[in-house]
Amino acid sequence: MSHVDDHEGTRRDFLYYATAGAGAVTAGAAVWPLVNQMNPSADVKALASIRVDTSGIEPGTQLTVKWLGKPVFIRRRTPAEIEEARAVPLADLTIDADSRNDNKPGTDAADENRALDENGEWLVMIGVCTHLGCVPLSDAGDFVGPEAVGGWFCPCHGSHYDTSGRIRRGPAPENLPVPVARFEGSELVLG
Ligand code: FES
Repeated sequence: MSHVDDHEGTRRDFLYYATAGAGAVTAGAAVWPLVNQMNPSADVKALASIRVDTSGIEPGTQLTVKWLGKPVFIRRRTPAEIEEARAVPLADLTIDADSRNDNKPGTDAADENRALDENGEWLVMIGVCTHLGCVPLSDAGDFVGPEAVGGWFCPCHGSHYDTSGRIRRGPAPENLPVPVARFEGSELVLG
């Protein structure tokens, strides 16, 4: 089951190859076809999984893929973006102090709990503003990184997210969510 072909050509936010210029998206075969009859909620939990080749993503850029109908930002951060994100005191995260990371539920919003890898190079988030659902613009807003890369801005009502995707200013109530994801070599597996 592929979600990568139904690309809405008029919406630049959905460009799969965004600023990365390379990187193949392949549809995974891991669609759970069976619903456990004993568990009525199993259908709700059924998840499609996709695999994304991240080898062409340069530091300071992101690849946006569409997964389960939503854009997912796969960002490879520069050392400066990481440093900026990790220097923010938790006390400054006044809007949302939760990591919103499905891989680490219940943790605080320290950047170490948001990035997918220990070094913090990879930040993977659902690219949907937590206010009313617009797709935020990358490398924009009041919390753009020191090299003018990183950070996101939602122009719909002015929400600013930092280089860790945390909401810092504006009406959005929550950090951009980090979905269940893992690396297998240079392939990112979503779901
Ligand atoms: S939808 Fe993003 S600020 Fe309102």
